Parts: sequence; structure tokens; C-alpha cells
Amino acid sequence: MTTDLRSILAELRLDHRNMSRLLDIVESQMLKVDAGGEPDIELLRDIMIYMTTYSDTIHHPREDLVYAEMKAAGGNVADGLEHVQEDHEEIATFGESLRNDIDAMMAGTAVTRDHVLHDMIDYVHRLRRHMAWEEEDLFMRADAMLEEAPRSVELGSLEGSDPVFGATSAGAFDNLLHHLQDAPSP
Ligand SMILES: [Fe+2]
Ligand SMILES: [Fe+2]
Repeated sequence: MTTDLRSILAELRLDHRNMSRLLDIVESQMLKVDAGGEPDIELLRDIMIYMTTYSDTIHHPREDLVYAEMKAAGGNVADGLEHVQEDHEEIATFGESLRNDIDAMMAGTAVTRDHVLHDMIDYVHRLRRHMAWEEEDLFMRADAMLEEAPRSVELGSLEGSDPVFGATSAGAFDNLLHHLQDAPSP
């Protein structure tokens, strides 16, 4: 069964809004630390688990399917797409190392809290830059390409649903879900 690229793009944009909400939470935790408070490390860990198990393994590979179609279309539509793969890989590596650092910090090993929090802010900026490029440039070009001719792709193993914002959320994210219920929606 194939899926229309326009519906995939709509989901990718929704993912970005959801990821942006999570990055807002990370930033609000940093403001708390700046004001002398303690960050909610378990919440930060949940967010990094989501980023590494949904964003890096479902969201970005789905985008790669869209970008592969854009590359095949060629011309202006394909400009700069050779850099996306690298961006996705760097974000995944960064996310994985942050997740490991948070685990190490919670286990009481030598990773310092300030080092992890500093890296988290870099991660937030890195991911926001990447999403802005996609929203303001790549997705717009994908829209233009699809206006000329609709396309669809096989999602295969990327059919998976969102464990936090999807219709059936995973119990492992209860802590994050409660926090999201209390946090203002954008
Ligand atoms: Fe991406
Ligand atoms: Fe994205």
C-alpha cells in the first residue's frame, strides 16, 4: 500500500509542532536552572527517549522518503538535498549521546549536570535550525513539486505511530504526557 506524499508532509509538519513543544519544555527547564532551581531530569530523559526513538527512527526516515522523490525530480527541487542526510545523522548521534549522558548522570557517574545541560541547549538550537530549514525551504519545494504531480511512496516499516502524540500513547511516556497536559499548547 502506498501513501500520498501530501499526507506524509502534513504529518511531518505536525511532528515539527510536537517536537517544538518538547524543545520548549527543555528550554523552560533551563530557565528554571538559571533561576537557581533544579531541572526535572526524568522529564529531560523522556524527551530524549522520544527524540531518539521516534524523531530519529520514524520522522527523519519519512522525510528521507520525501527528499528522495525530490532528488529524483531534479532541478531546483533537488538543490541542497545532499546535506540533509548528514544533518539527520548528526542530530541522531548528538541525541543518542545526550540520552546516554542523562542516563549516566542519573546513575551517578562522572558526567556533570552542567555539561549535560549545556549540550541540551546546543541540541535544541541544532534541531530548531534543522526544522526551520525544512519548514521554510524544503517542505515548500516539496509542496510545489506535488502541486505539479501527486506522488506516493511505500512507508513499509515506517508506518509506526507516535508514542507520545499519537492516538495510542505508550505507557513509558506517562510522565511526559502528564507534563504536556499541564503545559500550555502553542
Ligand atoms: Fe529532518
Ligand atoms: Fe523534520
